[in-house]
Amino acid sequence: MIGIFDSGLGGLSALKEVRRLLPFEDIVYFGDTGRVPYGTRSRETIIKYSLQDMHFLASHNIDAVLVACGTVSSNALVILREKYPSIPIIGVIDAGVRAAAKATRNKIIGIAGTPSTIGSGAFDTGLRAISPDFKIISSACPLFVPLVENGFVSKDEEITRLAAEIHLQPIIEAGADTLILGCTHYPIIAPSIAKVIPNASLINVGAAAAEELRDIITARGMHDTEREGAVKYYVSDEPQGFERIASIFLGEEITDKVTRIDIEKY
Ligand code: DGL
Repeated sequence: MIGIFDSGLGGLSALKEVRRLLPFEDIVYFGDTGRVPYGTRSRETIIKYSLQDMHFLASHNIDAVLVACGTVSSNALVILREKYPSIPIIGVIDAGVRAAAKATRNKIIGIAGTPSTIGSGAFDTGLRAISPDFKIISSACPLFVPLVENGFVSKDEEITRLAAEIHLQPIIEAGADTLILGCTHYPIIAPSIAKVIPNASLINVGAAAAEELRDIITARGMHDTEREGAVKYYVSDEPQGFERIASIFLGEEITDKVTRIDIEKY
């Protein structure tokens, strides 16, 4: 069984790819909808929340965890791995960096992320380690997560396109041919983002991490049995909003499959 968590809906961009690549795995997904957003909070708070999220997932019979959150991956991954040394824990930074380095042709790479992820410099550090020649332009995008969590996700949402235009202006002006969507919420509004930067490759870091997870599961022979995997969804606030937006993004009805838990107990 695979555990996946995020502050809310964002991790579904990774879950979708995990299900495609590992269709026989059972998945337990936790979205901390009662405490979203994480990306504007202090590192201490992000660590505290992510440890609770991890404790919750570890109360299931999990073989591996995908931290489907750029904010947690850039601030707390080391601590989660220290606490749970026997569980493979995969973050989104390294996989996202590799995918971007592979995609760029003109070596101008934009990074969009939450204020906390951009402040951590995690993607920049990873890119610089691959090549000092990359020109990197980072932009914190605080409006994107609330837009997703509040359902402004259709490709025709004018407010989402406008937010993208404002947040991504420096990256567009620099001529980036590759844009790391450094927060897992952003692929959910990728059509609006693509409208303002149409020629760039958009890097879905959750999907890239899902490939890394598939490789680990395959190498360790941890595959579940040959039946379609089941997904259980948990959230920390009322499930209705999550069910509605998740159903649109996943293209399947998940109403009545979502359970509310009290994350403060973990
Ligand atoms: N989806 C998360 C990320 O990848 C968190 C967004 C937030 O809660 O601010 O950064």
